[in-house]
Amino acid sequence: MPTPSANTTRQQVLVFRELPPDQLARLQAVHDVTVANPRLPEQAAAFHAALASADGLIGSSYPVDAALLAGAPRLKVISSVSVGVDNYALPALAARGIMLCHTPGVLTETTADTIFSLIMASSRRLVELANHVREGRWTRNIGEELFGWDVHGKTLGILGFGRIGQALARRAALGFGMPVLYHSRHPVDLAQALPELAGKARRTPLDELLQRADIVAAVLPLSPETRGLMGAREFALMKPGAIFINGARGAIVQEDALLDALDHGTLRAAGLDVFATEPLPLDSPLRTHPKVTALPHIGSATFETRHAMAELATSNLLQALAGERPAAVFELSGA
Ligand code: DGY
Repeated sequence: MPTPSANTTRQQVLVFRELPPDQLARLQAVHDVTVANPRLPEQAAAFHAALASADGLIGSSYPVDAALLAGAPRLKVISSVSVGVDNYALPALAARGIMLCHTPGVLTETTADTIFSLIMASSRRLVELANHVREGRWTRNIGEELFGWDVHGKTLGILGFGRIGQALARRAALGFGMPVLYHSRHPVDLAQALPELAGKARRTPLDELLQRADIVAAVLPLSPETRGLMGAREFALMKPGAIFINGARGAIVQEDALLDALDHGTLRAAGLDVFATEPLPLDSPLRTHPKVTALPHIGSATFETRHAMAELATSNLLQALAGERPAAVFELSGA
């Protein structure tokens, strides 16, 4: 953990989502800290009051848009406890020269574990079958109506081939003998960067990937280019009986088109950790759909990883406020 310079002037820090006590203490040791979660009605007024004098913000899962930034005239840095930065008004931050930090790297393996769990759960119908036992319906050996589908040896199509996509590819190709196709903006020199995947993963145009993969997993960041990427045309291109997994952001998928593909198309199942609106509204048909395994956005939600994210985000903020270059700055150029 980097220690801030001893002579750092105390500045105003606003924590907008709970931090672990040890990380909060690191901030309190050198700065004046207000903890206020704007999502909680009883804390919203304190949040907006503290925003007016905040030098630094730290938190996650709350939209920091241009209007909110207008209420923060002194703001120098936002440290997001997330790798995704889709909650932040990037052009407004760039225009104001506000630094944005995030938490890449520390959550890669955990998030890949979650996505692979969704692949297993959706293909082998784990939640449905566990409920079969729990609800006392296991009164005789199960028949074909409850069989699942193999995962090993199936072709996995990965949309996005950053850190998490590559970690997913390693699990699939090396652990489960799955040929991997990936779709990414930039080619990855596998022989150089990931020699263990050379010959096992191949960059593939989107339409071809959708037509050839048995399982398609989305792990790409939400941006103007990827918003709504999976729509009716894309689901219709998928192989009959294929499975769709989303571990990225809900808005990458047109949810009506996904539901239509599940109800009237040939999509076998969907495993979803993310949704267009979170928490998932109670009246969303995705919540109880028999072909959907829905999780409450738990990609990085383990004790170890959430703590590592909070620690990195705290270090980022302390370094930025001390005038040092933080370890994980999100480059706003071109935003
Ligand atoms: C991330 O870090 O972006 C995760 O999705 C949690 O929001």
